[in-house]
Amino acid sequence: MTGLVEKLYITSDLTDNELRELINTNDIAVSELLRKRADEARQQSYQKKVFLRGLIEVSSYCRNNCLYCGIRRGNPEAERYRLSREDILKCCENGYELGFRTFVMQGGEDAFFTDDFLCPLITEIKEKYPDCAITLSLGERSYESYKRLKEAGTDRYLLRHEAAAQELYSKLHPKDMILENRKKCLFQLKELGYQVGAGFMVGAPFQTVEHIIADLRFLQELKPQMIGIGPFIPHHNTPFSEEKGGTLELTLKLLGILRLMFPKVLLPATTALGTVASNGRELGLQTGCNVVMPNLSPVMVRKKYDLYDNKICTGEEAAECRNCLQKRISAAGYEVVSERGDCI
Ligand code: SAM
Ligand code: FES
Repeated sequence: MTGLVEKLYITSDLTDNELRELINTNDIAVSELLRKRADEARQQSYQKKVFLRGLIEVSSYCRNNCLYCGIRRGNPEAERYRLSREDILKCCENGYELGFRTFVMQGGEDAFFTDDFLCPLITEIKEKYPDCAITLSLGERSYESYKRLKEAGTDRYLLRHEAAAQELYSKLHPKDMILENRKKCLFQLKELGYQVGAGFMVGAPFQTVEHIIADLRFLQELKPQMIGIGPFIPHHNTPFSEEKGGTLELTLKLLGILRLMFPKVLLPATTALGTVASNGRELGLQTGCNVVMPNLSPVMVRKKYDLYDNKICTGEEAAECRNCLQKRISAAGYEVVSERGDCI
């Protein structure tokens, strides 16, 4: 079975049968070799560098009703907020001083964030901080909107595809959310010249190994610059409140597989990974991850961006999060760099 890891390391691909075997095995020697090879692959491309992305959670309003998500519109108890232009600029100022060179504005699909609101804001941020990259993660929008946002200066867009298999996608989302549209958005973003991030949750309800293989194949077709995966974690006020969450072990295994399939991709050690295990992000870094996304949102709103239960880092100031992560990353044997961190 370790031969499959070596094959993946050398060729960056496996057949479906081989992937199935690798994902299904509980052999510790396989996980250990996968971790080692994933770390070698990341060091060949990115040495020990870890890129920081300053995450600004701009809104907890959302018109969508994804069954897994704590801020879905159908959750009447979700506390709603949106940041003002001034709030967002303050987050960037604070982040720049702390050494961040990428700002990620993420939020629910909130109609308040029109192109007319966002474009001048993006242009202003780029003028103030020309050495920084701007990433948006605001869900599905029209081609025209993506085009205007790109022209205003946006560099990157994160839109997890969530599930490439129709069967699973329709169990995780209501009927008005269309998988083909999500995929179309991702290809449009690429066509417009964005650096694109896709991804999925590990251990989502109803997810099988076949679904995961479909996700890996979709990623091979899309060739995104970033791949974000993290464990599914139930939220108490969603239809999936009683479901089991994704495991640390499977998430780490998939991170290792992704690093070997996509040796140069940007791979974040996500907050959800740090939520299922206190050393989850460190283990992620040791299994091929090269990005972390500390929170820059004002502490006042942190708890309201409540995607899943027990989310970490909701009480600390941005500077505390930055320092905490710096220590964790160094202790894990890696080096935080103050760079934009583009995909090579
Ligand atoms: N609205 C934007 C979008 O749809 O891409 C960005 C915000 S959305 C909350 C960001 C990501 O959070 C989703 O892509 C999803 O994978 C993840 N997420 C939502 N609920 C989650 C849960 N219960 N456990 C783990 N991750 C979750
Ligand atoms: Fe819209 Fe989760 S349902 S961000």
